[in-house]
Amino acid sequence: NAMLQWQRTGFHFQPEKNWMNDPNGPVYYKGWYHLFYQYNPDGAIWGNKIAWGHAVSRDLLRWRHLPIAMFPDQWYDINGAWSGSATVLPDGRIVMLYTGSTNASVQVQCLAVPSDPSDPLLTNWTKYEDNPVLYPPPHVGEKDFRDPTTAWFDGSDGMWRIVIGSKDDRHAGMALTYKTRNFIDFELVPGVLHRVPATGMWECIDLYPVGGARGIDMTDTVAAASNSGGEVLHVMKESSDDDRHDYYALGRYDSATNKWTPLDAEADVGIGLRYDWGKFYASKTFYDPAKKRRVLWGWVGETDSERADVAKGWASLQSIPRTVVLDTKTGSNLIQWPVVEVETLRTNSTDLGGVTIDQGSIFPLSLRRATQLDIEASFRLDPLDVAAAKEADVGYNCSTSSGAAGRGTLGPFGLLVLADARHHGRDKEQTAVYFYVARGLDGGLRTHFCHDESRSSRANDIVKRVVGNIVPVLDGEALSVRVLVDHSIVESFVQGGRSTVTSRVYPTEAIYANAGVYIFNNATGARVTATSLVVHEMDSSYNQAYVASLPS
Ligand code: FRU
Repeated sequence: NAMLQWQRTGFHFQPEKNWMNDPNGPVYYKGWYHLFYQYNPDGAIWGNKIAWGHAVSRDLLRWRHLPIAMFPDQWYDINGAWSGSATVLPDGRIVMLYTGSTNASVQVQCLAVPSDPSDPLLTNWTKYEDNPVLYPPPHVGEKDFRDPTTAWFDGSDGMWRIVIGSKDDRHAGMALTYKTRNFIDFELVPGVLHRVPATGMWECIDLYPVGGARGIDMTDTVAAASNSGGEVLHVMKESSDDDRHDYYALGRYDSATNKWTPLDAEADVGIGLRYDWGKFYASKTFYDPAKKRRVLWGWVGETDSERADVAKGWASLQSIPRTVVLDTKTGSNLIQWPVVEVETLRTNSTDLGGVTIDQGSIFPLSLRRATQLDIEASFRLDPLDVAAAKEADVGYNCSTSSGAAGRGTLGPFGLLVLADARHHGRDKEQTAVYFYVARGLDGGLRTHFCHDESRSSRANDIVKRVVGNIVPVLDGEALSVRVLVDHSIVESFVQGGRSTVTSRVYPTEAIYANAGVYIFNNATGARVTATSLVVHEMDSSYNQAYVASLPS
């Protein structure tokens, strides 16, 4: 359906057509970034013939699509070649572990290796002849055992370890550890690495170290932690099948006892922090040895109807790849930020900072094109207004609020993106990305950051919500957000990446040249200054000569 083609993105990863879900086996090999992904070659909806799609890139942005890497064509994966992870061995070889859904729909773990390791594109894959290598252990449901992590090497016993997600018979989510020497024979490590009551099935577990500004490889830290008393923290993340959100927590991993322990039990995995407060699921990181960083990919599904997806012939995006580091200022959360390569797509940068917006006002930005943008904005509330504001909105919550149209003392204010530039009514199509400052009885301020999707489209077959959460703001900091706008996705990185919010949006009128950006201030008690506001138009990363020139 050509009418819907404007929803395709300019710089987010997506296959040429059909359904995609989880990112799989991201890895850097001989100069190329590889991204595999859950893919249905038969159509734009999920199905029981999921294969591994595959693409390669030099820069995580400009992709060349390759043939399907693995089809579900064996008894042990005939109902789906499901999610898995890559491990780079010390000699540079790659092994891939993934979940197969068998002919009886049992979840088993399978091994595959590149057919030709000298091919930097890793085009062809060979499944191990004696797959599966791992069955569900006793007392674990045969449909509750999936998504192996990247393996790491543990010098204490010279064995590799992986983690697999599951749940117990009382609906606690849990992480099981296995060890292996050869990726063929596996042994369950006694005990449970971690378990959290009432969180349900844990899909796509990730476990990795964070420390300073650079990324760290898991194998290195397991060695380092046992030498140096553990300066690093280990992030555990799980994707909760119950509510379809990716939850993480900071903690410590002790390989000797096979325990991961959260720093803060109240912010444990599955009940505390999310990677993203909008649409973002089944994510996975990998260590990039070329730039010494850890990079996160997340599946951003559709929020329109299945019918609409079938009509347009495709479904789902991957998030912008994000570097992940520890927030050393707060010590209690991660920082996620678009990989630096994203900045190479910037063109026509416009500096619009210094504008002050009165209570109840809206201010249009004059831009040539507003469907592909990278916006960097900082706001300050007038300090006298803040001082004068009484206790207000202590219990504010993005998801139960009335969004950008509501009015409080110190919010909402922020930006309207993919906003109809022709109409000026209150109900024009727009996606609001906004701050809302609440003030407690003790005078303390709490800053919320939300996306209001409720007016993002005139279409009525779309899930439209207000999503977001509280974001930590330290003394003296301005309220800042970086927003990536790309046709049908809006991805916000708040306070330097302490929090992120992603929305899928389907405007019907605010498209092509009709799309605009506005600053708005719906607070009743404060004037807002955009102290800095730089809007970069973004090039497309597809269909460039660059892609055509890649070796075949
Ligand atoms: C997460 C997930 C995984 C599974 C895959 C199947 O979205 O359900 O647990 O491996 O997708 O496509």
